[in-house]
Amino acid sequence: MSLTDVAYQRCISPSCGDEYGTDEARVSCAKCGDLLDVVYDWNRAKPPAALAEFERHWSERHTPLRFSGVWRFHELLPFADPSQVVTVGEGQTLLQQADSVAKYVGVQAGRLYLQYEGMNPSGSFKDNGMSAAFTHASAIGAKRAACASTGNTSASLAMYCSVTKLMKAVIFVGSGKIAYGKLSQALDYGALTVQIAGDFDDAMARVKEVSSELGIYLVNSVNPFRLEGQKTIMYRVLEALRWELPDWIVVPGGNLGNSSAFGKAFAELHELGLIDRVPRLAVINAAGANTLFELYEQRGMRWNGGRGDMGIADAYYQELDRDKKKASTIASAIEINRPVNLHKCLRALEVCDGVVREVTDQDIMDAKAQVGAGGIGCEPASAASVAGAKLLRQQGVIGADYRVVCILTGHLLKDPTATVAYHTTDQDQFDQVLGSRGVKRASFANRAVAVPNDLEEIIKAIQLYS
Ligand code: F0G
Repeated sequence: MSLTDVAYQRCISPSCGDEYGTDEARVSCAKCGDLLDVVYDWNRAKPPAALAEFERHWSERHTPLRFSGVWRFHELLPFADPSQVVTVGEGQTLLQQADSVAKYVGVQAGRLYLQYEGMNPSGSFKDNGMSAAFTHASAIGAKRAACASTGNTSASLAMYCSVTKLMKAVIFVGSGKIAYGKLSQALDYGALTVQIAGDFDDAMARVKEVSSELGIYLVNSVNPFRLEGQKTIMYRVLEALRWELPDWIVVPGGNLGNSSAFGKAFAELHELGLIDRVPRLAVINAAGANTLFELYEQRGMRWNGGRGDMGIADAYYQELDRDKKKASTIASAIEINRPVNLHKCLRALEVCDGVVREVTDQDIMDAKAQVGAGGIGCEPASAASVAGAKLLRQQGVIGADYRVVCILTGHLLKDPTATVAYHTTDQDQFDQVLGSRGVKRASFANRAVAVPNDLEEIIKAIQLYS
């Protein structure tokens, strides 16, 4: 069955703007090589007249389309017919007002919110995008799907394959570069797991070659349909705030799919007259994988109406190669030096008057402990958003009374190694996992108490420590 006729793909470069049908699986423009958008003829797509209209879908939660936190916003990503949608119940996520984290960040109580994307079925935000990419892939008849991954994309792809049986998963991971929670998922779900002697950037380059040579559908965020699903993270934030806009969205930056999707979401809502202003966007890099920070904040690279100087990025990548510099951070999910969505993200930063910051692994692990102590918890990369918000507050960029939403991209259980090493009493374990990354202390550690197997001693310890 063909996809809807209100959507098509278009090159993001305004000077090119080449167009393709939605029946094509493309990850770049054939004419100029730039990234692609999914675009809609809104006159025919009939989006709602007000965001509150989505509330009428709440009473239809018994249907898979309206249960899904992605597809209950179908009218804002109408590239597929409802009958074509592939959903496993993604997007049941929570926007939590987090006052203890607000205190840590330095904003007033009631003003800081955490968007828990780790509550997705595979434990990360990727399911939002995977549901959309899968919908596209299955509609055009793909039988195999591939990705390179720091772990979460592969877990998500493997899960959609195992649940739906629509496709076979082929995943590429950097050897030793993926947290155990994520690797366990890919293996359990039965994905063909290819461990490459290299890092994510190497795996990404290879998977592009392999998928084009073997005609395998690529689900990395260079796939424009993925990002359509990830727009809905922002719709759910607005929904939870009863359609009021926050002042800031703070998100970790790796391959820059989320930030690109958020920018597109807000640009479209604004164009459709569904919001009257656009929140500001902060993208947070780990200091050991800080390409966006370097290019945007240090070297002044900008979207500039699509005329931004990509030569700035090329020169930087040459420097990385010359110095044999590889990405390195405890936040393995964002251990990426060559973000594939760089150009789109620059556009998002322009739309949202954005800023980019870098935070150290020490900042990340401390922020992560604060998130865990005050709520449901997250994996290291996710905590970069909270560490970044704290830094922006210290710098006076974010005011104490601003309404700030930090996106927690992945579940706490994704990377138990990092969490246990932070709280451990075993100095060797700490040094090996965190010390080697420049983490010096665990200021918020909750250390296990060792006691002999003796009732009296156990009671004594509980009375002493509780
Ligand atoms: N947070 C988590 C938990 C992630 O898994 C990722 C990306 C990001 C943040 C960065 O998001 O790419 O949209 O800027 N993980 C990818 C993967 C690269 O392979 O799972 P982004």
